[in-house]
Amino acid sequence: MNIDARVTGKTKLLGLIGNPVGHSISPILHNTLSSLLGLDYVYVPLKVEKEDLSLVVKALKSLDFVGFNVTIPYKKEIMKYIDENSIEAILMGAVNTVKKIDGKLYGYNTDAEGFLRSFKEEAGTSFEGKKVVLIGAGGVARPIAVKIASEGAEKISLVNRTKEKAIELAETVNENVREIVQVYNFEDKTFKMAVEESDIIINTTSVGMTPDVGKSPISGDYFNDSQIVYDVIYTPLETKLLKDAKKKGCKTINGLGMLFYQGIKAYEIWTGVKLSQEHINEVYSSFKK
Ligand code: ATR
Repeated sequence: MNIDARVTGKTKLLGLIGNPVGHSISPILHNTLSSLLGLDYVYVPLKVEKEDLSLVVKALKSLDFVGFNVTIPYKKEIMKYIDENSIEAILMGAVNTVKKIDGKLYGYNTDAEGFLRSFKEEAGTSFEGKKVVLIGAGGVARPIAVKIASEGAEKISLVNRTKEKAIELAETVNENVREIVQVYNFEDKTFKMAVEESDIIINTTSVGMTPDVGKSPISGDYFNDSQIVYDVIYTPLETKLLKDAKKKGCKTINGLGMLFYQGIKAYEIWTGVKLSQEHINEVYSSFKK
């Protein structure tokens, strides 16, 4: 008999809580990392109903999970069940990674670091002194805004359909940026000007995501070939926004790298292992396929 006993009585537990979780590629990423590194962990997706969230967190604690990821729609709500949230997570208003240490739960946010690492790697530049247009002011925009502000962006133009959310986000990042502009209407002149003079344009809204693949939050007419356009969406890998930007000669980056690197950071937090660039490259190349 050929027994393939990858999960044993000693295997350490990791997981993902959210709803839905069926589409997530995090289980594949984390289980691949454990196989590659020869670490005895298993990562499982756990679909959680809203009314069960506190019960599930208690259960994960009691079942001795080493840690878990948190995804939509619980990244904010989870914070009240965590013993200690990191300063960065508090500032970003969201936790996507939890680790149990000495019986206590610690909350982190690795989305921002995932974004920054993927941006630097794929764009080959930093945010220092750059003019940035950030489209959207939801749960994905916040960590990104906080990060690029602390990375020395010269100007951030925040654009969002709902005015109040743009104002709230502007208040969070204001201190770190020389100039901050809030635009609420995708059609108005301020928006067009902000896009035209910007170095980097980032979409954090769901506009263009499957199944609405034909939509883009902004017109490609305003782009020029010196710009970098980043879309956090990874389904599809090339949104209409990125297609339009490519036509104008912009450098384009999709959300796959952000997803990958937030996972790498979470895995490093849980296991205490610092992944070598060689291992990262190996997993990333199979992850991209
Ligand atoms: P997430 O946590 O994924 O960011 P969210 O908090 O619901 O999700 O935010 C989604 C973002 O996409 C928001 O900025 C939202 O704009 P509002 O704040 O006005 O809701 C934006 N968004 C979603 N659909 C949109 C649309 N059709 N046009 C413009 N913006 C849209």
